[in-house]
Amino acid sequence: MSQQQWSAVDAYFTELLAPADEALEAALRESDAAGLPPINVAPNQGKLLHLIAQIQGARRILEIGTLGGYSTIWLARALPDGGRLVTLEYDPEHADVARANLARAGLAGVTEVRTGPALDSLPKLAAEDPEPFDLVFIDADKVNNPRYVEWAVKLTRPGSVIVLDNVVRGGAVTDPSSTDPSVIGTRQALELFARHPRLSATAVQTVGTKGYDGFALARVS
Ligand code: SAH
Ligand code: DHB
Ligand code: MG
Repeated sequence: MSQQQWSAVDAYFTELLAPADEALEAALRESDAAGLPPINVAPNQGKLLHLIAQIQGARRILEIGTLGGYSTIWLARALPDGGRLVTLEYDPEHADVARANLARAGLAGVTEVRTGPALDSLPKLAAEDPEPFDLVFIDADKVNNPRYVEWAVKLTRPGSVIVLDNVVRGGAVTDPSSTDPSVIGTRQALELFARHPRLSATAVQTVGTKGYDGFALARVS
């Protein structure tokens, strides 16, 4: 099995099941033009997030790690009338690109991009005592994944869903002696998923246009 084959199958699935439209295409084009790294979710992964949000009936979504807002568009399009999405982004240039992309997608009114380190934004958000989030998508700096999981549990309710991206680390996630901060952070988050009394979780490996990776999914009780 080769990357070429994984990409060909992803292209087939995407064209059939998660075809691009003008707003999604423009989001990627403008992100690229602004020099953002192409590390957004793949289209069929974006559609998976969209479906998870719909199946969950999510009215309030929190995303940690916006980039150019590509995953944000997929998630926000799942919101019912009156729904809202908050997305946290460290880099002000990424946040500006994302705001423009979300506005172009007609989602400016239901999304809010908050700039700054997520570990600063999360306590501020919590201090506003918001209604609990129904879905949290964690996709920022992997070293802080355990902190993000802790915050996600605080900001959700029984029945909420947490999705954690990029959990395979090229297979290094199995290495308990890894010194890679992303591996360490991801292992700590998965261990929290495993032992937290309010979480029930699994993790799945994936291949596709983005190579070999995977995601973890947890339900809050
Ligand atoms: N979810 C996006 C991809 C996010 S890439 C998509 O699939 O389309 C990860 C993003 O997290 C980058 O934009 C990066 O700037 C941001 N990030 C990194 N460290 C962060 C931090 N401490 N707080 C908030 N965002 C952070
Ligand atoms: C990287 C980050 C991501 O969120 C992702 O989906 C792929 C790659 C990265 O930092 O390289
Ligand atoms: Mg990711």
